[in-house]
Amino acid sequence: MKADVLLGLQWGDEGKGKVVDVLAPKYDVVARFQGGPNAGHSLEFNNIKHVLHTIPSGIFHNQIINIIGNGVVLDPITFAKEIESLEQMGVNPTESLKLSQKAHLILPSHRELDAASEVSKGKGKIGSTLKGIGPTYMDKTGRNGLRVGDILRPDFKERYNLLKEKHNNILKQYDYQSNIEQYEEEWFKGIETLKRFEIIESEHEVNQYLKEGKKMLAEGAQGSLLDIDFGSYPFVTSSNTVCAGACTGLGIAPSSIGEVLGIFKAYCTRVGAGPFPTEQENETGELLRKIGHEFGATTGRPRRCGWLDLVALKYAVMLNGVTALIMTKADVLDTFDTIKVATAYSINGKVTDRMPFDIDVEITPIYKEFKGWKTNISGMTTEGELPKELMEYIQFIEKETGVPVKIVSVGPARNATIVR
Ligand code: GDP
Ligand code: IMO
Ligand code: MG
Repeated sequence: MKADVLLGLQWGDEGKGKVVDVLAPKYDVVARFQGGPNAGHSLEFNNIKHVLHTIPSGIFHNQIINIIGNGVVLDPITFAKEIESLEQMGVNPTESLKLSQKAHLILPSHRELDAASEVSKGKGKIGSTLKGIGPTYMDKTGRNGLRVGDILRPDFKERYNLLKEKHNNILKQYDYQSNIEQYEEEWFKGIETLKRFEIIESEHEVNQYLKEGKKMLAEGAQGSLLDIDFGSYPFVTSSNTVCAGACTGLGIAPSSIGEVLGIFKAYCTRVGAGPFPTEQENETGELLRKIGHEFGATTGRPRRCGWLDLVALKYAVMLNGVTALIMTKADVLDTFDTIKVATAYSINGKVTDRMPFDIDVEITPIYKEFKGWKTNISGMTTEGELPKELMEYIQFIEKETGVPVKIVSVGPARNATIVR
């Protein structure tokens, strides 16, 4: 059996949580492979709204095994809070959720380093979620990190203190008043919560599942344009959000990847700093934010909004080898007279359909306009009901990307999903 991968093709928040929850019944295993509590994946069903940060979005389905893979960075504080809120909803994740012993731990001092680094950047700040993601991945590649498996070692506390001291020395170089101690008690309580779960050799387990013929879905976090290698660097996150990240973040071979499900919004959003060529800092942007409820699921920050960017989308499709597209939030465009899509960029008078290396340049998107459908699509359940203007929009995207749009999401709830 091969593992399918579902990932975001824009700057995150494409609706991954919703769609993983919808597709989950087709799978035996759902696994997160990168990122950490910077993610906020919203799910909606039976009038319940829930946001997951570290825990895979298959958790609400009985029978499904959920895995936090080695590529994830895990904060015991956020994790414990997520578990508590699931338990309050009557979900018992102890049996169904397994943790890779190789996933790295986010320490309180990583969070403080994240904050100190952002403050020091002034106007050039990334707009990080301040969850400690960057510093934790730095310690991973710098070969200093602590991993989930380490919590079972008798000298874990000493290892913790050693790393904390290292961080304290770095923090001294910043003009930043840090207070690591305020989080420590809760953090060590979170470590006890982690111990309630099965800590596994996830790369072996995952490959064994595939060998047994179990169906697995790898759930991406963030989006391709936030990828550490291919995103709008340095305004990116610190992991490989593209499909290759599923291989390193779970320990599966490239030849074991099946379908690559790429998810995108019918328009575009970005939260945090960095280039966003099709951003609409005007009434259109405000309307998208209002109708689409575009506020961060993790930080509550207003998301920047703009038109769909096909230059960026085609780049993401290429990097991931997307085999099927999923379009979300088409319903947000229901009332628009005209819908625009960027098909190329004009940079210093030159037209290109490639993402530029230099992100400081002035990019003027070249738009193609579509007539709006002016129909409420949010209650529709079959492809046949969709207005012809929306079908034209979808067919144009399919032609440009060369990939079929297999699912159209028309609302936040589980059942607001049209499979084509
Ligand atoms: P994720 O990070 O990719 O899981 O996405 P988020 O949960 O951060 O943001 C997506 C938001 O859009 C959430 O509030 C979802 O409930 C909502 N959503 C998802 N799909 C749709 C859709 O098709 N239509 C509408 N109107 N909202 C949607
Ligand atoms: P999901 O999984 C949207 C953005 C931050 C910031 C940059 C770096 O919900 O789609 P970090 O905290 O990683 O150091 O922040 O990346 N970012 C996200 N934007 N959705 C996310 O996750 C994000 N995770 C990080 O806003 O610009
Ligand atoms: Mg999100």
